[in-house]
Amino acid sequence: MRRYILAFAVTAITAAPFAAQAATGKEIVVEQKCTKCHSIKAEGVAAAEDKPTIIDLSGVGKDHDVAWFKGWLNKEIERDSIVKKGEKAKHKIAFKGTPAELDTVAAFLKSLTKK
Ligand code: HEC
Repeated sequence: MRRYILAFAVTAITAAPFAAQAATGKEIVVEQKCTKCHSIKAEGVAAAEDKPTIIDLSGVGKDHDVAWFKGWLNKEIERDSIVKKGEKAKHKIAFKGTPAELDTVAAFLKSLTKK
C-alpha cells in the first residue's frame, strides 16, 4: 500500500510541470474557442460551427508578423476590416489566455504560411 502511495506521489510531482506548460499553438486555438469564428484548413483545424462568417486563417503568417498578432489579439491594433469594406476594425475578442499562451499562439499564427 505504502509503495502505491509513494508511486502516486512521485507521478503527481513529476507530471505537474508538464501539464502546466505543454499546450501547442494549435491546442490553444481550440481551447480559446478561436474555432467559433475561424478554421485553419491547412492545419486540419475545423471551425466549431458551419456558418458563412468563418474566416480561415491558413496562410495568415504571410501577411503579419509576431508583434502584430499579439497586438491584434489584445485588441490594441485597428486596421481596415477584411469583412466590412471601408470600415476600420479591431479584433472581435480580446485574448483571454496567459501571456505565455499569447506568445505561443502568435508564433503559431506566424508559422501559417500555406493557404
Ligand atoms: C467571435 C468571433 C471571433 C473569435 C472567437 C475569434 N476571432 Fe479572430 N477574427 C474575427 C473576425 C470577425 C476577424 C476579422 C476582423 C475584421 O477584419 O473586420 C478576425 C480576424 C482575425 C485575424 C486576422 C486575419 C487576417 O487575415 O488579417 C487573426 C490572426 C485572428 N482573427 C485570430 C484569432 C485567434 C487566434 C482567435 C482565438 C484566440 C480568434 N481569432 C478568435 C472573429 C473572431
